[in-house]
Amino acid sequence: MFGEFGYDARFHCTFFAITEIEQKGCRIMYIYREESYEKMSRRAANIISAQVIQKPDSVLGLATGSSPLGIYRQLIEWYNKGDIDFKDVTTVNLDEYCGLPANHDQSYRYFMDTNFFNHINIDKFRTYVPNGMCEDADRECADYDNLIAKLGGIDLQLLGIGFNGHIGFNEPSDHFDIKTRRVKLSESTMKANSRFFPNGGMPTHALTMGFKSILSAKKILLIAGPEKYDIVKKAFTGPVTPQVPASILQLHDNVTVVYTGNQSF
Ligand code: GLP
Repeated sequence: MFGEFGYDARFHCTFFAITEIEQKGCRIMYIYREESYEKMSRRAANIISAQVIQKPDSVLGLATGSSPLGIYRQLIEWYNKGDIDFKDVTTVNLDEYCGLPANHDQSYRYFMDTNFFNHINIDKFRTYVPNGMCEDADRECADYDNLIAKLGGIDLQLLGIGFNGHIGFNEPSDHFDIKTRRVKLSESTMKANSRFFPNGGMPTHALTMGFKSILSAKKILLIAGPEKYDIVKKAFTGPVTPQVPASILQLHDNVTVVYTGNQSF
């Protein structure tokens, strides 16, 4: 394995590329540090945009949270300028709270509609978010994994990261769960996300895409703000362990991390 630090004059940012040549093929991880949230969002939006321009019928895996908001704003701006077309794109979201209907202002379906889908020309019937109101969670989750497989897997999966290293709602555990499933949220996640539920009612459970579907993505794009520096460093330079769920991404062969903050790895 060899790594390379560099300064990319084209983008005015530092990057760290790890390229591992294996018998199986080539494992690539690009880590970009940006000066600001806007620049992080712009770089990530550029990567998504390039994906859609190259493959107009891409399957995009999408994420919620405060981190991707700037990306969605940027993509909407480029859509309005006529630079990107979502007509043939399909999306699958990572997760959804259990017990929140689609029109609840904290449901992830509502988040995606109001922050992204309502502002672009995507076919809403091809935007998938797990149904947190389903009666049979096992069935819903199995169907979700089957749907992703039927779509041919995900072309590009966008990920945020939780303070405890979760991706989607795959919380720290003693093993990596392959399947999409219903999970109990950890104390740390409940604490972090309860800010969105000032009047209470923070759900205790969620449906989350499992690692098989996440890792089926041909490319992974993880974004993180400065407050996530420690956990991002742990996930990408520490051991691969289910205690830090995002660390499993070290085993994927095409990962880009875009983070913002003062420190390099
Ligand atoms: C939630 C989502 C995650 C997201 C995380 C971080 O827990 N389930 O997919 O990555 O929040 O959110 P934020 O970007 O707001 O820190």
